[in-house]
Formats: sequence, structure tokens, C-alpha cells
Amino acid sequence: MNFEISIEKVKNSRIAEFDTENIGFGKIFADHMFISDWDGEAWINHRIVPYGPFSLSPATSAIHYGQSIFEGMKAFASIQNNHDIILFRPEENAKRFNRSARRMAMPEIPQELFIKSLTTLIDIDRNWVPRTEGGSLYIRPFMFATDDFIGVKPSNKYTYAVFCCPVGPYYSKPLRVKVEEEFSRAAPGGVGFTKCAGNYAASLLPTALAQDEGYDQVLWTDPITHTLVEETGTTNFFAVYGNTIVTPELTDTLLAGTTRESVILSLRALGYNVEERKLSVQELKDKLSAGLLSELFITGTAATLINLDGFGHNGDYHSVITQGNQDVSVKVKTYLDNIKMEITPDTNGWILKF
Ligand SMILES: Cc1ncc(COP(=O)(O)O)c(C=O)c1O
Repeated sequence: MNFEISIEKVKNSRIAEFDTENIGFGKIFADHMFISDWDGEAWINHRIVPYGPFSLSPATSAIHYGQSIFEGMKAFASIQNNHDIILFRPEENAKRFNRSARRMAMPEIPQELFIKSLTTLIDIDRNWVPRTEGGSLYIRPFMFATDDFIGVKPSNKYTYAVFCCPVGPYYSKPLRVKVEEEFSRAAPGGVGFTKCAGNYAASLLPTALAQDEGYDQVLWTDPITHTLVEETGTTNFFAVYGNTIVTPELTDTLLAGTTRESVILSLRALGYNVEERKLSVQELKDKLSAGLLSELFITGTAATLINLDGFGHNGDYHSVITQGNQDVSVKVKTYLDNIKMEITPDTNGWILKF
């Protein structure tokens, strides 16, 4: 299909406000945004317009019943040729966006339109992609229900939109996580495998309470027994036992991270043994006391990979960082970063360059 996109450029770019030395996260938005409308039958009116507010009816159904989904991705400037922009596995985000859409009774978006919305928008806002080391352009595709009708039913109309913001390098100290046994993030048969807005709303209070106790993040456990590890905040979880790395198997209660899958494939390419299976908190404690748990790390688009300092469970803190030398995490992060930066060849076809 040929998706025609109309383009209305800003009269005055705000790029001069963009302080490349002090980028931060989500403070300033690139000049343009992409919008497309679902009219009940098809995606129409594909357009790029100056970044700015939406005008919404107070009865907009997304506000009341939460039909609202999103994705999070990054664009990088190529270090080989400063003008080229790189996206990492954008088709995986397109597929996950549509998995979220199906579960939330929202229309899917053709993968071709999803990718074209990103490349056309970023092409126009090319200068907003940071050229500084570790900087990137964060991309936020999202869709929400726009019927102005307060009956509880799937909306007929939707808006799909994309905006971008430059982000700085992600430096993070190893995190302390709290094994969550009271609150649940998701339930079997529910929406935990989607990036629907409500999943994030429901995580805010448990996370704030864990932070009040001195933790950085919540380590979610399964909602039935609270004994099996699932994921952490907005990242997936990995435990390293020497040459074997274990990560919780995918179920409908956790989000299938693109970084998670890329890390699994990279670890295997590096010769490690990766197990996707059930992983209990007790197993982590047993392996730790036997001296076999050498590293814990979490993965996601924001940071690629962050080490965990340790985990709190039932009032006790279990330090893991003191056990090992972070060898595996450093190796796999470097392996992935080198593919993203075109230092090593992209044999998997993970990179889209334009
Ligand atoms: C709940 C949750 N888990 C895991 C992830 C990691 O996914 P990805 O590697 O695709 O960024 C994210 C981020 O999208 C998330 O929101």
C-alpha cells in the first residue's frame, strides 16, 4: 500500500533551544509530530504537523475507559556517517504495538505505515538526533480512542501519533530492587503482555512505596503465588550462573522486550547457555548462598542493560554485585552496542538505516 503523508513544516524551528550539552530526558520535544486517524474503517489523513497540543472533548473515551497504547524506541546517529540515522528492530515494535491493539479492541496499524511514520518524521527532524556520544532521539508512537461517547464499548475512532525527544546518555548506578509480594502488575488472561497505559498507571503506587523504602524499582512476581520472578519496572530480568543465564519465560503477564530477545540471541552467539523458564526467588537466594549467582541485570530500550546491586525480600537485602565482576553483562552490552553503532556487522538484519 502507498501511504501518502502530507507535510506542514514549522515556521520557526525550536532547535536553538536544544542544549546538546545538557539533554536530560523528555524535557524538549522535536519540531514535528506524525498523526493519522482511524475513521471506523481505515487509517486516513496521514500528516506531519508542528508538535503541539491536541484539542479533545471531555467525553473522549480514552480518558474514561483507557483504550490507550504506546511504544518506546530510539533513533541513533550513525558514527560511520553522521548524516545517517539508525533504528533498531523497528518491526518488532510494530508487531508489539499491534499485539497491544488487538487485546485492547483497537484497530491494528499496517507495519508499513508504522515504519513510514517513523522514518518520515525522523527524516524531517534529523537535526534533533543527538550527535553526542550516548545520545539518541527517543520515539514515542501511541494510539488512543477518540469517540466522544461515554457508553462502555470499543471506540469507533482513534488517533495514532508519533513524537520524538532528544535524550542524553543513560548513566545508571546498579539498582536495588524490591521483590514485590503484595501488589501484582498483571494477571493471567489480563493485559500484562501489552503496552497499554493502564499497566503503567497501576505500577506507580507500588513503585513509589518501594522507593520510600530506599529501593530503586519493584521486581514483580507472579500474581498467584508471588514466588516467581517476572520483570522489573520497565525492563526484563536476567540472572547469571557462570556460563548459564536464566530469564523468566514469556507468559501473558510480562512484556516481551525487544532488548530481552536481542540479549538472548546475543548471549547465545557469544557461546553462553540461555534458559527461558520459571525462576523463583528461592532459587535466586539458594544460588546466591551457594556462591553460584554471579550477576543480575535488567534490559530495556532506555538503557539497553543495567546491573542490579541486589534484591530485597521479606525485609532482608541480598547483595549480588559483591559476588562477581559483571563480565557477562559487560560483554553482551558491548556486543549489542557494537551492532547498533555498526562497529561489528549486523548479520541479523536488526538495523534500519536511512
Ligand atoms: C513493562 C516493561 N517490561 C519490559 C520492557 C522492555 O522492553 P524493550 O526491551 O522492548 O524496551 C518495557 C519497555 O518497553 C516495559 O515497559
